[in-house]
Amino acid sequence: MTPIRVGLLGIGTVGSGTFRVLARNQEEITRRAGRGIRIDVVADRDNARARAVVGDAARITEDAFAVVRDPAIDIVVELIGGYTTARQLMMEAISHGKHVVTANKALLALHGNEIFQHAREKGVMVAFEAAVAGGIPIIKALREGLTANRIQWIAGIINGTSNFILSEMRDKGLPFDAVLAEAQRLGYAEADPTFDVEGIDAAHKLTIMSAIAFGIPMQFERAYTEGIAGLTREDIRYAEDLGYRIKLLGITRRTDQGIELRVHPTLIPARRLIANVEGVMNAVLVKGDAVGATLYYGAGAGAEPTASAVVADLVDVTRMHTADPENRVPHLAFQPDQLADTPILPMEEVRTGYYLRLRALDRPGVLADITRILADHAISIDAMVQKEPAEGANQAEIILLTHLTLEGDVNAAISRIEGLPSVVGRVVRIRQEDLS
Ligand code: NDP
Ligand code: HSE
Repeated sequence: MTPIRVGLLGIGTVGSGTFRVLARNQEEITRRAGRGIRIDVVADRDNARARAVVGDAARITEDAFAVVRDPAIDIVVELIGGYTTARQLMMEAISHGKHVVTANKALLALHGNEIFQHAREKGVMVAFEAAVAGGIPIIKALREGLTANRIQWIAGIINGTSNFILSEMRDKGLPFDAVLAEAQRLGYAEADPTFDVEGIDAAHKLTIMSAIAFGIPMQFERAYTEGIAGLTREDIRYAEDLGYRIKLLGITRRTDQGIELRVHPTLIPARRLIANVEGVMNAVLVKGDAVGATLYYGAGAGAEPTASAVVADLVDVTRMHTADPENRVPHLAFQPDQLADTPILPMEEVRTGYYLRLRALDRPGVLADITRILADHAISIDAMVQKEPAEGANQAEIILLTHLTLEGDVNAAISRIEGLPSVVGRVVRIRQEDLS
């Protein structure tokens, strides 16, 4: 089957991330989608910059309108941002029967009702996972995974730039302006960074989540918005002294009187998981009546985390064209004829760190025997502690942490250590993962 053809509008931070992720993971993405996904044409104001990213892999134009009218294009990915040209481009793409994927939360929060109406009339999809919380699949969670629930409230750190600023100000004592400049350099901030620091971007995202959670139209104009610009290092420190962290939270809550829709700096008890979400990371807490509280965490901005969500939407749209309509998402995520026969490793071939605890006679040479055995099996020691024997006892406890090691080597070393006459009883082994 020929690949589905994509027109990419805007190849800045997110556009270039999208191009790279699609190119790098093309093989697996095709096995999941059931059809290749090819960026046929890229529109950007800066042809040279676009060429530097895509090389000869796609056509390049400065005319985004030509792309949305191009009969060869099946899906338009809008990553230019803003409400004016982006809105015209999206409406025209839909008019031409194209599916649209976008990360543009500002556009959706302000004009989503009209855009979705037009898409329904034309029978096309508008997919926007990347518009909220970067790489976190929160739209899918709210719209599909939690669909059994009556959602009670959502509270989220949903602006990476402002969370990055608050973390850096607190941890490094850096001034606001310097951290904002760094967030811009890293590609986290909006084209107009006041959207980030004044809570407007968070309110765009909250508006979208609130609509999905409570079944209401988008109502950005009703959102209460207060940003972090007025916060001082003193406020941050005083809150810490009282056992709180200050985070820019977006909160939407169903009450008997109506729906709260508000973004503002908020004190959260420091022991809460969400209070420890730092830097550009985002987290969204969703409280449903059946499931209780659920927490979604991940990078909220940046090229490839956001591209992860854009490409997921591309796969979703592509599956509509290719997959068995009764099984739109294959049971095992990959198309049934695309399952690989990659072997599952036997435990002996698994590599991890180890905590080893053993009891040995407290006499010279014992430790040397043990470390020699470990060295024989190429096991490198990360840390070691020897607990002195209790008064009158002659056995000491030795605790070792190893670097990454093959399970087979550790098994062999343990059985040799247990065979030493100076070692008493069995070696306790607990595997260790850094999960970094
Ligand atoms: P960038 O500014 O990095 O990229 C936008 C690109 O589109 C630029 O190259 C820009 O060119 C180009 N462009 C703008 N207008 C036009 C036009 N009319 N025709 C052709 N090209 C045009 O933005 P981002 O990649 O950061 O953001 C893109 C979208 O993704 C925005 O809606 C943003 O809110 C959203 N988003 C961004 C995230 C991030 O981490 N950066 C995360 C989640 C969503 P020029 O530079 O010349 O203006
Ligand atoms: N400027 C946004 C942020 C990008 O910092 O969260 C991701 O939507």
